[in-house]
Amino acid sequence: MGSSLLYKIAAGTAAAVVIGASVHACAAPGRGTTNLVTGDAASRVYVPPGSYDEFYAFLSGGYSGQVTVYLLPSGRLVKEIPVFSQFPETGYGYDENTKAMLQTTYGFVPWDDSHHPEFSQTNGVPDGRWLFINGNNTPRVARIDLTRFETTEILQIPNAAGGHASPFTTPDSKYIVSATRFSVPVPNTDVPIESYQKNFKGTLSFITADKPGKMDIAFQILMPGYDYDLGHAGKGPSDGWFFFSTYNTEQAYSKLEVNASKNDKDFVAAVNYRRAEQCIAQGKARVAPAAYLHNYRDEVTHVATSERKTSVKVLDPKDCDGVVYFMPTPKSPHGVDVDPTGEYIVAGGKLATVIPVHSFTRMQKAIADRQFETVSDGIPVLKYEATIAGEVKNPGLGPLHTEFDGKGYAYTSMFISSEVVKWKLGTWEVVDRAPVYYSVGHLMIPGGDSRKPWGKYLLSLNKITKDRYLPTGPELSQSAQLFDISGDRMKLLLDFPTIGEPHYAQALPASLIKDKQLKWYNLAENKTPGVVKAESEGGIERHGRRVDVRIAAIRSHFAPDNLEGVQLGDTVYFHVTNIEQDWDIVHGFAVLGANTAELILPPGATRTLKWVPTTTGIFPFYCTDFCSALHQEMQGYVRVSPAGSSVALTANVSKRAQTQMSRAAALPSTSGDRR
Ligand code: CUA
Repeated sequence: MGSSLLYKIAAGTAAAVVIGASVHACAAPGRGTTNLVTGDAASRVYVPPGSYDEFYAFLSGGYSGQVTVYLLPSGRLVKEIPVFSQFPETGYGYDENTKAMLQTTYGFVPWDDSHHPEFSQTNGVPDGRWLFINGNNTPRVARIDLTRFETTEILQIPNAAGGHASPFTTPDSKYIVSATRFSVPVPNTDVPIESYQKNFKGTLSFITADKPGKMDIAFQILMPGYDYDLGHAGKGPSDGWFFFSTYNTEQAYSKLEVNASKNDKDFVAAVNYRRAEQCIAQGKARVAPAAYLHNYRDEVTHVATSERKTSVKVLDPKDCDGVVYFMPTPKSPHGVDVDPTGEYIVAGGKLATVIPVHSFTRMQKAIADRQFETVSDGIPVLKYEATIAGEVKNPGLGPLHTEFDGKGYAYTSMFISSEVVKWKLGTWEVVDRAPVYYSVGHLMIPGGDSRKPWGKYLLSLNKITKDRYLPTGPELSQSAQLFDISGDRMKLLLDFPTIGEPHYAQALPASLIKDKQLKWYNLAENKTPGVVKAESEGGIERHGRRVDVRIAAIRSHFAPDNLEGVQLGDTVYFHVTNIEQDWDIVHGFAVLGANTAELILPPGATRTLKWVPTTTGIFPFYCTDFCSALHQEMQGYVRVSPAGSSVALTANVSKRAQTQMSRAAALPSTSGDRR
């Protein structure tokens, strides 16, 4: 079976595939065109059953709102992490424990468009603690804890619309950023759209990120009403600076396709954030009212709560000399990427015929020499010739994003000409190009936007698949293509389909996180409201029209499993605890007619499902995760009687346990919304 599949991977070649071949077995180096998979490609990506991959890769899900985790080089999908969208597979955003994660000032927003995963860094190198990701539509940033692969925190971004340039990190993870794609009135009010130039502003948000559970907007920089697209922090000599790409410096508000493509150059905004810190310390920022929510899962109770914030510090560059400079950059730039040395700032001008590379050293000198072309909204515009280090000529069409291999080379994605172009830093010469199928957006090298890339593989994240897979109707999957970049020439190894649209991705060696994985939650330390630590603690209680049920789940039964005395008009909260302390023994809980998802219960965890019965009768509940040989026996019944019925409230637990229950204090609310 395996060999026929592998044969297909090596389609078109007569490669003999040896099952069990070592992962990185070397064969003759492929020369010439790289669009055909050569004989050894299959063995280069083949990870034999029972063996591990070398890298974890985290891909954004785009309009799925989530993050997907693939293993490289095999391209196997191993996990989907829910972030901004409800996820019925685990109950995220449906259960009472996590609903608050998706609260915003616009109400409950169960979806977003996730774009750019970004690892936390220490000294400019991914450290495997957290993964950050942005929600683009209702601007938010999220933290994923990489010991659990769970979203633990979401912060809404005020004074923003389209949180696209986000959540890129500083080398010490002190800040992650979010810049608004769409300029809007700040604060957002009812004005004529044609007053754009007067009333619409951009904001660059710096978010404190190094303390879990404490993300907040440190400050916002008020910018002209352009579109802010992407960003990257400086590093090494440029540490302390942040670079953002802008387009629509024309400040068009209609038919941007034409009206925002008029200027030959837009800008890369260079932000000295340490200077911003100084100005704020000197009281030069104003505290402006702003409503936004901070949602996080309490470390002790694991229940998400929402906290409403009411103000933000806003700094106007006019009040803080030297905080922002513009570097003119051709043309409608998209990506802005900083090389591992921190000297070069590479922009991908969607409509540019060259790849412009700015020099940090030259930028510093241009600032010192006041080589200003003009000053716009209080922001000096540096002369292009004064900051540019070089241009990559004839790179291809539609340069978007650049990553680095740490060996002196840069790799730029070409959307229009569907290729990845490899070029040399310093000489700016193109040394290799590889076609991709088709229309590449971002590309990713593990650590490729950091100080120390692991420059072995490159992943091309393609927007259009057309003929690459068996067709699936009008909507086709996006596609990732894995290249070996360890040699002089890029070498295509593998295609694999993705979930949603992976805008950007990050990857790191598995060794950085695999041994830190939490295996189960410690039941003895479980303080989630409604927890039971033994079967005898299960039971049922009434508080007016609210009924709380505590249930233990353990192979292969629920305790209690028969509940009576629930009445029509009641709201029932099932608090279910998986009391097992064993890795990978997960139970589920679902009840007939519940208009929400199931609960999925990792070992030692408690989750709560809210259920409002709509008719009288008997309602089975059961375990949804095939946990044991007697999984199908893991079930129970709830009896629902008419309102005012005399059926006693009972759960079939021991008398002793019932007495304990009646002494227990009333349960606190678990909906967790503290607003
Ligand atoms: Cu527990 Cu299936």
